[in-house]
Amino acid sequence: MAVGVFDSGLGGLTVLDALVRRLPEVPFVYFGDNANTPYGTRDADDIYRLTTQGVQRLFDEGCDLVILACNTASAAALKRMQESWIPPGKRVLGVFVPLIEALTERQWGDNSPPREVAIKHVALFATPATVASRAFQRELAFRAIGVDVEAQPCGGVVDAIEQGDMILAEALVHSHVEALHRRMPKPEAAVLGCTHYPLMEEAFRAALGPGVQVYSQPELVAASLEHYLERHPDLIGTGTETLFLTTGDPVAVGHKATQFLRRRIPFKAA
Ligand code: SIN
Repeated sequence: MAVGVFDSGLGGLTVLDALVRRLPEVPFVYFGDNANTPYGTRDADDIYRLTTQGVQRLFDEGCDLVILACNTASAAALKRMQESWIPPGKRVLGVFVPLIEALTERQWGDNSPPREVAIKHVALFATPATVASRAFQRELAFRAIGVDVEAQPCGGVVDAIEQGDMILAEALVHSHVEALHRRMPKPEAAVLGCTHYPLMEEAFRAALGPGVQVYSQPELVAASLEHYLERHPDLIGTGTETLFLTTGDPVAVGHKATQFLRRRIPFKAA
């Protein structure tokens, strides 16, 4: 039984890559909803509908555990799925908690009451839907007090990356960071709250300037899954192959994915 990794498109490959490096003995199934990407400009009902469809496809593939690599899906659909949709025996995890645990210097799974933390000014870069959901602020408030979060919706960045237009993506990153700086001139930490943004990490760092601690998700999510699987070894299957599924054109998607990760990624139709 493999671990499922759900994403709205190609961005989740940044998370998958970190998972495979950290957990080479675990088989994964990646599902990219490339026919419907991006999610970040959709409304919450639409994101919920598409996310449950994709996760169901991963359940049908035999995955008992699914990671929502897509922040937009984690922000806009996960809570509703956990409340009323996930069938018994199946589990779905999002990507905010590992990030917030790192930001608030908590051990994995530490659910003690919220407390003062060292970082007081946080810039959140995410899609418009993730920003609108306020899921990041909600999860942070369970763990920390007195943290000022300034959220910047980064319209257009995911689209540009999915189109392979990295020059446009970089220009957009710079203009979104400028917009953030007008409201919060000196963030101490910046959260890249979208699976696509690790591909733009250098551009974010350059635009943010020195002295800002940048939190990027892939390694944090991988470390967190490692802890989780230590507690739930029954969820680890055998075999090390990753199966790549897409709702888009497998050849075109495979071609772009190969460019992103600089190794051949053979997608199949979902
Ligand atoms: C998107 O589909 O718009 C972005 C994915 C994400 O939020 O991680």
